[in-house]
Amino acid sequence: MEVFTSVKSLRIFLDQQLSHQKTIGLIPTMGALHEGHISLIDASVKENDITVCSIFVNPVQFNNPEDLLKYPRTLEADCQMLEKAGCDAVFAPSVEEMYPEPPLLTMNFGALENVMEGASRPGHFNGVGIVVSRLFNIARPHHAYFGQKDLQQVSVIKRLITDLAFDLKLVVCPTVRETDGLAMSSRNRRLNDEERNTAPYIYQILSAAKEELLRGRDIWEVTAAAQGRFAAIGSFTLDYLEVVDIKTLQPIQELGPEGSNAICVATFLGPVRLIDNLIF
Ligand code: PAF
Repeated sequence: MEVFTSVKSLRIFLDQQLSHQKTIGLIPTMGALHEGHISLIDASVKENDITVCSIFVNPVQFNNPEDLLKYPRTLEADCQMLEKAGCDAVFAPSVEEMYPEPPLLTMNFGALENVMEGASRPGHFNGVGIVVSRLFNIARPHHAYFGQKDLQQVSVIKRLITDLAFDLKLVVCPTVRETDGLAMSSRNRRLNDEERNTAPYIYQILSAAKEELLRGRDIWEVTAAAQGRFAAIGSFTLDYLEVVDIKTLQPIQELGPEGSNAICVATFLGPVRLIDNLIF
């Protein structure tokens, strides 16, 4: 596995691969890798000749300077995991390499970003759109892999690909969970022992709410009851809990056909902000 820190050296490597008609899979990440990321690498290794993983903590998508500062950075351990998983190339640029000049462009995804993560983290999807576009232009992948845990990010990137005519296929992989149901996330390593023991309630409450909805209980009643359960546990500070249409991401009053609904949550547990969702 080769590690590239400059755009130029990665491009030279990928030009060679493309000239031999090799297919390229790209997994954009911010590092602090876990089994969820490795499931994306596995999918890419199966489907492409060359798998590239980018590791870049993108300052443009953070609206909270403390969150950016505290974001775990574990490049050496990440590279070991990637090599073991059969990744061919890592792209780990510095901020100056990725942004020789601060971007002037701003991206606005309209109604797709006026809810949930976009509403709580103004400018977040502008930063995601900019960095993902740069990565697509640098790596020119045939396939790009993202996790369903970031449901809204997936919708925004789908739209980015359509609007800017990126010639690639987006592959969305299921959320990978710990045995107790907690969705894997780089942020989980910032939880202390007590918070880590409490964190699986997120999945439990979401799953119970989903079952109630499937039994036909009113959406408003179910979300209010789930919010009450989070409040009763005490250590959670809920940001949002919404039942949405997975295409528009807008809250719904009645369930749509199977597979078109999602229950989404973002909550602070101590200082750590966690998100999760279930599609049904
Ligand atoms: O999901 C992430 O880790 C980031 O938002 C991404 C897609 C790598 C862009 O920085």
